[in-house]
This record gives sequence, structure tokens and C-alpha cells, in this order.
Amino acid sequence: MPAVVVIGLQWGDEGKGKVVDFISERADLAVRYQGGANAGHTVVLNGRTYRFHHLPVAALRGKHVCLASGMVIDPMKLLEELESLYKEGIRPRLTIDGRAHIVLDIHKMLDEAEESSGKGVGTTKRGIGPAYAYKSARVGIRFSDLAEIELIKPRLKKAIDMTRALLSGVYNMNAELDVERAIQFLREVASRLGRHVGDVSLLVNETLDRGGLVILEGAQGTLLDIDHGTYPFVTSSNTTAGAACNSVGMGPKKVDEVIGVTKAYTTRVGKGPFPTEMDEPVASMVRERGREYGTTTGRPRRVGWFDAVAVRYSIMLNGVTSIAITKADCLAGIDPIKVCLAYEFNGQEIKSFPDSPQVLERCKPVYVELDGWEALSEGEKLAALRGNFDALPRQLRNYIEFLEKLLVCPIKYVSIGAERYETIIR
Ligand code: GDP
Ligand code: IMO
Ligand code: MG
Repeated sequence: MPAVVVIGLQWGDEGKGKVVDFISERADLAVRYQGGANAGHTVVLNGRTYRFHHLPVAALRGKHVCLASGMVIDPMKLLEELESLYKEGIRPRLTIDGRAHIVLDIHKMLDEAEESSGKGVGTTKRGIGPAYAYKSARVGIRFSDLAEIELIKPRLKKAIDMTRALLSGVYNMNAELDVERAIQFLREVASRLGRHVGDVSLLVNETLDRGGLVILEGAQGTLLDIDHGTYPFVTSSNTTAGAACNSVGMGPKKVDEVIGVTKAYTTRVGKGPFPTEMDEPVASMVRERGREYGTTTGRPRRVGWFDAVAVRYSIMLNGVTSIAITKADCLAGIDPIKVCLAYEFNGQEIKSFPDSPQVLERCKPVYVELDGWEALSEGEKLAALRGNFDALPRQLRNYIEFLEKLLVCPIKYVSIGAERYETIIR
């Protein structure tokens, strides 16, 4: 399985970090292919928590890590991430694609201004939307530009003029924006990160041609995809497996496996429709058990029941070949457990995911109730982790098998704790 894409099947925070870390032991190359510092991927190893925002989590295993062209990278945040790994004595080789875009202060100011206006979608305020907007408007700055900063002055000036006009015209703000200061910033980025700039597309294709294993790590979730997600309550990039090929620069036939990660329930951060959102007090119970607070912003995550309509849609969009289900442990003690099988809209039952957030907002979930289970004893847990799936409580096995049938896709991994080892392979 030379190229494996790992993507989230919900609205993010499915546990992609945990799953990618688990499967990346034999990886030759690990690549993040979209988004930027908006992502927060967590790995827990021997009681210590590691949070990644830009870097593929396989950095923790000392793998060669790559940031592909489809990303928008906040250089100072990336340097902080690298520093914290260096402090652990981990010095992974890093390649940043020269075509990846640089998130500038102007992008973060615009993101912040939009969120402060009260009309935003509840972003992470990492400048992601404006950075992608400027990329599309062809006024972005890329890592390859760092080699000849003087040449990009006219483009940078245009980006800054656009920002000034937007800030004053739309948000009634007068900001001091200075081209020379931005140039100085880019010079600093060049001196600190310039040596890492390279050609990720070439590296990935050469590694695959040699028969190497490349792990492509998605960020955000499928339902936050700019095209296929719950627009406008989405992030500003394509998050699907298809985007991996484009963002990296590789042919679609090179992807052998697409692992879709889903929680045993659902969470979402920020605004937007969420048909299976739980009522209190169950929502708080699950939030506390699952420690559902954003890795990047610390915001409490909205919590909901498993939504099979949404996840089936994501499986289809990504061509998922197997599923990893996480946080099954966090539902222990909750009884009954609901699963959404379909939506009811205007008195009709629908099983496909609507293309309009206004419709989704009015969809009522049609639930089935399943028996809950008690927390696993150490014995049950150890036996299951050693490969004896039957050691799990009957109701938990039923839940997994029920979802597998409903999703028509094999559930290959069941995660029952945040630690790397707490993963069952079926
Ligand atoms: P990502 O953005 O998809 O990588 O997910 P996050 O790291 O933002 O959020 C998932 C959270 O759940 C992290 O804190 C993980 O350590 C944790 N986690 C992952 N899998 C499990 C699991 O099976 N059980 C428990 N209890 N926690 C898990
Ligand atoms: P990982 O990779 C969960 C959400 C934000 C907001 C919307 C747009 O950890 O799963 P943005 O800052 O991207 O412009 O915000 O997308 N969002 C995430 N939610 N997990 C993430 O990343 C997210 N990245 C962005 O909360 O609703
Ligand atoms: Mg996250």
C-alpha cells in the first residue's frame, strides 16, 4: 500500500492525528496536504500530549515530513512547532513545497475583523480564508518567492492595498500596513525556513516509484470541504481525498488506500447546521468524557449523535476503503445510544445529504436506539487490544457491527483511548 490518504469523515477532530500516528510506523514520507494552522492533531504517547498544527504527526516518529503545495502556512507558528519538537530531541527532516502559500499578518487581520464583526462562521482566526482568497486572486506569496523577495514587491503591495481597502471599507478599521515591514518579515522567514523549501511533488512521486510508503494526512473534515461541505460554514480548502492528489501534485491512480476517520459520535466547532446535535445533559456528559475542547482554539466543541447520512456521504466523496472509528470509550455508560439513519424534511424521509445548509438546518434526524455499554475493564481492554475483538462488551461490538453494515464499508480500526497503543485492528 504505497500511498495512503487519511481523511476525516465529519466536521473535523475525528482523531486523524491518533490514527495517522498509529499507522505511520513504516512510512517513508509523511505529507500534510491542505489547510494550515487551523488544524489541531493530537497524539498521546506514554502519557504525554503532542499537538500538531502544520506538521504531519509522523514527525513524532522522526519521519521525513512534507508540507504540500495546497497548504497555507503560518511561518512563525510552524517554527514554534518545530522548536517544541527540537526540545524533545526530535529533529525530523522537513520539506516545504515552494508552491505552498505563506499566511501573512494581513490575512490574520482580515479573519479577525470578519469574526469580530459578529458575521463570521466561527473560524479559528488563523487567516486561512483570506490566505486562500488571496491565493485565488493571484496576490498570494509563496515559499518559492522567498528566493527573490525584491521581485514580489508589486504583488505584495497590491495585497496590502487590497487589505487596507477591505479593512476600512468593509470593517471600518484603519490599520497601519506597511510594505517594507512585510518585506522584512519575509526576509526573516527566508532566513529561518528557506533551507527547508523544496519540491514535495517530486519527492512523493519518486518515493512511490521506489515502492516507498507515503502517508497523506488530511486536515479538517469532509463536511468542512469548501465545495462539498456545509457551505458557507466550512473551511476554505478542499479537504477530501481527491484534493490530496491535486495539492501534492500526484496522479489519482497512485492512491491505494483511503482511510476515513470518524468518531463514534459527532462533534463540530464553529457555526453551521448540525442535525444530530445532542440535548443537555447528555451533550455535556459526552463533551467532558471526550474532552471535547478545540486543540487549536480551546473552544468547547458542539456534540452530537453519530450521523450515518453524513458519514455515508463522506465515504462516497472520498472513495473510502476502510474506516477507523475513534472514541468508542467515551460513550461508555450512556444508554441508549442514538444513531441517525435518515433525515425527515417536509414530511419526507431523505437518506442523501442535502446540498443546502438551509435545508440541512430544517432536517430532523430519524434515530434508531441501540443499547449502551459499561466502561471496559482492564482485562476486556487488554484482550481486545491483543486482537480478541470478542472480548469487548457485546453492546459495543453490536454498535461497531451495526455501523459497519449501515456504512457499507469495513471498519478496520477501533480506537478505545487516546494513547497510541489503545487501538484495535480488526
Ligand atoms: P484530529 O484533528 O482529527 O486529529 O483530532 P483532534 O486531535 O483534534 O481531537 C481528537 C481528540 O481525541 C484528541 O484529544 C485525541 O487525543 C483524542 N482521541 C483520539 N482517539 C481517541 C479515543 O479513541 N479515545 C479517547 N478517549 N480519546 C481519543
Ligand atoms: P482538524 O484538522 C475542527 C472549522 C472552524 C470553523 C470553520 C472555518 O483539527 O480537524 P477556518 O479557521 O478553517 O477558516 O474555520 O472550520 N475548523 C475546524 N474544526 N477541526 C479542525 O481541524 C478545523 N479547522 C477549521 O471551527 O467552523
Ligand atoms: Mg483537531
